Amino acid sequence: MSLVDRIRDKAARTPRLPLGVWPTPFMPMNGLRRALREEGADCPALWVKREDLTPLGAGGNKVRKLEYVLAKAVAEGADVLLNTGEVQSNQVVQTAAAAAHEGIPCELFLGRTDPPLSEDDQETGNILLCRILGARIHLVPPGEDRAAAMRARAEELKAEGRRPYVIPRGSSTAEGALGSLLCFFELMEQAKERGFVPDAVAVTVGSAGTTAGFLVGAQALSLDGGPEVTICGFDSFGTDYPVLAQDRIMQHAEEFWRFLEMPGSCTDRLLRLSYDFVGPGYSRPYPAMIDAVRLVARTEGMILDPNYTGKAMTGMLDMLRRGLFPPQANVVYMHTGGLPALFAMRRHF
Ligand SMILES: Cc1ncc(COP(=O)(O)O)c(C=O)c1O
Repeated sequence: MSLVDRIRDKAARTPRLPLGVWPTPFMPMNGLRRALREEGADCPALWVKREDLTPLGAGGNKVRKLEYVLAKAVAEGADVLLNTGEVQSNQVVQTAAAAAHEGIPCELFLGRTDPPLSEDDQETGNILLCRILGARIHLVPPGEDRAAAMRARAEELKAEGRRPYVIPRGSSTAEGALGSLLCFFELMEQAKERGFVPDAVAVTVGSAGTTAGFLVGAQALSLDGGPEVTICGFDSFGTDYPVLAQDRIMQHAEEFWRFLEMPGSCTDRLLRLSYDFVGPGYSRPYPAMIDAVRLVARTEGMILDPNYTGKAMTGMLDMLRRGLFPPQANVVYMHTGGLPALFAMRRHF
């Protein structure tokens, strides 16, 4: 059996709670390509996978992960979901939306970045959506341990006879990565239908489950004798997170590889990781990122976010302008969502 068939077999055996409508759109970015050519860059064909257009909350890449993560929670009898993140976290909105969709109460432990993004970052954007979605919000002051507060609440709920389930950071578990891997296979099928094989896929690295899923998928295809697809990862956490992106990705990829019962181990051969576009730090904007968000909006009519996709786009534009891909190449950009956080940063735009 090929590795890809083994993965599909494992996916068929893994419980999944349907939350999305698949496939998500896959489109050319001809306007952006034209603009780069007018600047003088010998730009290859550009494509975008619209994983931001998933149907829960404001959409995003976590829905596909949550299909597997929530299936596990429901199988374990969860009657309340707990999750933590920044006030402008996209993950927590998608968790709150999935919880609402499944009729399970949800409690969120949210922290403000220090210094805050704006005077009203705890009122607008993603946190506003969490409130509208009916999640119970615990605002944790800067410097306090959000995860510890969440664990203490879980113990309290258990003492009341409830069955709390803590959704891991970014839904980046082995099950979550399965969702991301299937997104990668879906993207490869969509490219095939259009008559090409992607040379590279550009993706933002946060908790790293998405990139790990893509890397495992790319390695499986390559080991099966298929195409060699480079996964261009752009870190968005920088040194604000204690584990470096390279280690986050590879730890998740190795755990995921074992979960899939694959022979050997996952390597970073197909990974091209950049730390150069984090800017001043996680959730901190910088001028080139703002220019990238504007350029894509004005050439494609597509809105990126300031914390993740805007930074990955800045990195991809840099590679395109430096001519790092041949003009006959096909480069796919992953839009993973995040738009509501723009509203908490409006003064920067
Ligand atoms: C909009 C957006 N893009 C990308 C990511 C990164 O995905 P991952 O955490 O799987 O690395 C996130 C994570 O929160 C996100 O919100």
